[in-house]
Amino acid sequence: MIESFQGKTAVLTGAGSGFGLECARIGAQRGMNLVLVDVQQDALDAAAAELQAAGAAVLARRVDVADAAQMAQLAADVQQRFGAPHLVFNNAGVGAGGLIWESSVQDWDWVMGVNLMGVVHGVRLFTPMMLAAAAQDPQWRGHIVNTASMAGLLNAPNMGIYNVSKHAVVSLSETLYQDLALVTDQIGASVLCPYFVPTGITRSERNRPDVATAAQPTRSQLIGQAMTDKAVSSGKVTAAEVAQRVFDAVGAGQFYIFSHPQALGNVQSRMENIVRMENPPDPFLARPDIGQRLREQLRG
Ligand SMILES: NC(=O)c1ccc[n+]([C@@H]2O[C@H](COP(=O)([O-])OP(=O)(O)OC[C@H]3O[C@@H](n4cnc5c(N)ncnc54)[C@H](O)[C@@H]3O)[C@@H](O)[C@H]2O)c1
Repeated sequence: MIESFQGKTAVLTGAGSGFGLECARIGAQRGMNLVLVDVQQDALDAAAAELQAAGAAVLARRVDVADAAQMAQLAADVQQRFGAPHLVFNNAGVGAGGLIWESSVQDWDWVMGVNLMGVVHGVRLFTPMMLAAAAQDPQWRGHIVNTASMAGLLNAPNMGIYNVSKHAVVSLSETLYQDLALVTDQIGASVLCPYFVPTGITRSERNRPDVATAAQPTRSQLIGQAMTDKAVSSGKVTAAEVAQRVFDAVGAGQFYIFSHPQALGNVQSRMENIVRMENPPDPFLARPDIGQRLREQLRG
């Protein structure tokens, strides 16, 4: 739990767009030093210019969060410039869909690399720095927020690769929360589980490193992309509102952060079926028309 953000340091991955950028904007308003991390240089440059103009001390680094060596260099740069970060937002992520058996090895490497290993590296590298700072000063407080998704608590069909990566992030984050509680009262953890929110997520391929050599998308992947485009673009909650919820949760020491708490009924049905030892529920109970259309498209 961080009570005052003034003069504290935040590391934000995926800071060039969406939730990362909106959290950086709030961080600047709260007087934080900002470490902006993104793989997309033009978006990173624009974010750095905007936040510097807003008065924040900014360290901007073009880093692929999936790359262990680049992340290690980032951690060293942060230590040198600002010391241990108080807030770490392991948020960079990419979306991908399609039937689970149609994801290629390259698809798995890309999505798991960014969505899971990016978080792994952030936790692996920054937590020890934060623990060392906490050990030096009993007043020191820090917090780590990892971005998962509602897809980390549900398993909607035709987006398995994304579901797997996000379930792993929920698991990592809950474990982090428990592990931190074993060793310190000064550092907290949260997991952000958004539902559909308009951001750049539907254009994730723009930052795919092997985009030139990756196989053409399969039919189920194209259908998945079209469904996600529609769901994300019609989302009513904004990325700025989600960012506000992140800061509120960090200030309150709240672990689960949801953009759409009203969608938790689906999580409840899933969990109830598990404890009743029943098969997974129909994911389209509330919207049978969508399920019907998807089945027709995939079988047609
Ligand atoms: N928008 C949604 O509906 C939604 C829902 C659930 C979860 N999420 C998650 O939210 C997080 C943020 O996504 P967003 O919605 O703001 O999308 P976004 O595309 O607007 O922002 C993601 C940022 O991550 C960056 N990025 C991509 N690959 C990277 C890499 N290898 N290294 C460093 N940076 C990289 C992108 O350049 C981009 O600036 C992701 O983890 C995403 O899975 C989004």
